[in-house]
Amino acid sequence: MKEFPADFLWGGAIAANQSEGAYNADGKGLSIQDVMPKGFSGPITEEPTPDNMKLVGIDFYHRYKEDIKLLAEMGFKAFRISIAWSRIFPNGDETEPNELGLQFYDRVFDECKKNGIEPIVTISHYETPLYLSKMYDGWLNRKLIDFFIRYVETIFTRYKDKVKYWLTFNEINSILYEPFCSGGIYTDKDKLTKQDLYQAIHHELVASAMAVKLGHEIMPNAKIGCMILAVPIYPLSSKPDDVIATMQKQREIVFFADVHARGEYPAYMRRFFKEHNIEIKMEPEDREILTHTVDFISLSYYMSLCETADSAQKSNSKGNILGGIANPFLEANEWGWQIDPQGLRYMLNELYDRYKLPLFIVENGVGARDVLVEDENGQKTVLDDYRIDYLRDHLLQVGEALEDGVEVMGYTAWGCIDLVSASTAELRKRYGFIYVDRHDDGSGTLERYKKKSFYWYKRVIESNGKSLSEGM
Ligand code: BG6
Repeated sequence: MKEFPADFLWGGAIAANQSEGAYNADGKGLSIQDVMPKGFSGPITEEPTPDNMKLVGIDFYHRYKEDIKLLAEMGFKAFRISIAWSRIFPNGDETEPNELGLQFYDRVFDECKKNGIEPIVTISHYETPLYLSKMYDGWLNRKLIDFFIRYVETIFTRYKDKVKYWLTFNEINSILYEPFCSGGIYTDKDKLTKQDLYQAIHHELVASAMAVKLGHEIMPNAKIGCMILAVPIYPLSSKPDDVIATMQKQREIVFFADVHARGEYPAYMRRFFKEHNIEIKMEPEDREILTHTVDFISLSYYMSLCETADSAQKSNSKGNILGGIANPFLEANEWGWQIDPQGLRYMLNELYDRYKLPLFIVENGVGARDVLVEDENGQKTVLDDYRIDYLRDHLLQVGEALEDGVEVMGYTAWGCIDLVSASTAELRKRYGFIYVDRHDDGSGTLERYKKKSFYWYKRVIESNGKSLSEGM
């Protein structure tokens, strides 16, 4: 395995809505997450309800100092967070930002700096202001571009000396599967046509490119990337029909990165749009705006899936938003997500071959139930060898990709401190190196405890990845 680059950005990732809590503090408006108590699949409520775990989250809003200190103790070089849009513009369509919201992120970034940690900031992570969703139907409406750009200009101007790395939309391709969560589209998913979805996607792609352009103007040294939910798709068999079906399915995902990296719609979309009677309404300036391409591509990676042309075999395997066909050669976690470390090497190679742009793995990890126990010194901990195994196996494959010649900027493990899950809104699905004492019935002290993986990851960072191959 090749050595990790000296400036590799080791760290972890969280999102505002899954960790901050304080859902109505200091002038914050409601976000779509405040009415999604059961995650993607559950019903939306009219008002925030007490069973919604995200209203309190892990109380990062009040405990960020303690948390960042723990991350620094692990040696974090980078910490990916998101800004809650509705803290800055409570409804989303105001002309003046909420100063108290801006001050909160000033404090968080200052704390990162104090601890030698580089913030990596997602501008929109599944937390569209609820008002924009209800009143405008989210990204289905072109007006969202203006509201988004006002928000982006505000945060770029405010944090230009504190934040260098920015990501525009979290898992931008997920809008195809979860249009409310990902695109704030209030209209029922079943009523949306492909035409609607691709029009909303066009608005996001234009907004993302405008953010890149604006970011480069305001912060010449900034690095601005897109973020895709990366799932390598394997043909279920070697039948040519399966291979073609696989190519189409993979294009459903890489289309988003293609536009961000190449600055135009790829040729294959012409046929797709024609066959599905889709006509994207574009403004004259859109094509030029799209040419403002990203500096790097960031991705989440949890699993791979299979595809077949044979509808009889199209059994659906559970997955992270994007369902598909299970691979008979892989095992899954308790939530049905199949574990495939080599898929990460494969995906990194595919993306790098395609774009020759640096890649940043900004999410990876395994959700598991943890049991709090006492160690020999009477300290509470979790013996999470399963998490260590998962992360080690994936990081070793990142090493292989580096050896293959892929440029990887960094790795931020998902949910480095336990948080509320996005798909199911549970806390028992834990990802962290740090255990948070909070449970799905709302009980718990919110105390933090270091898991076994905390010390393991600390060593990985300290040794710049060398400890990964120890004992092999
Ligand atoms: C990604 C999201 O889809 O996967 C995160 O960007 C999410 O917000 C993560 O938490 C893991 O998914 P889940 O459903 O286990 O929380």
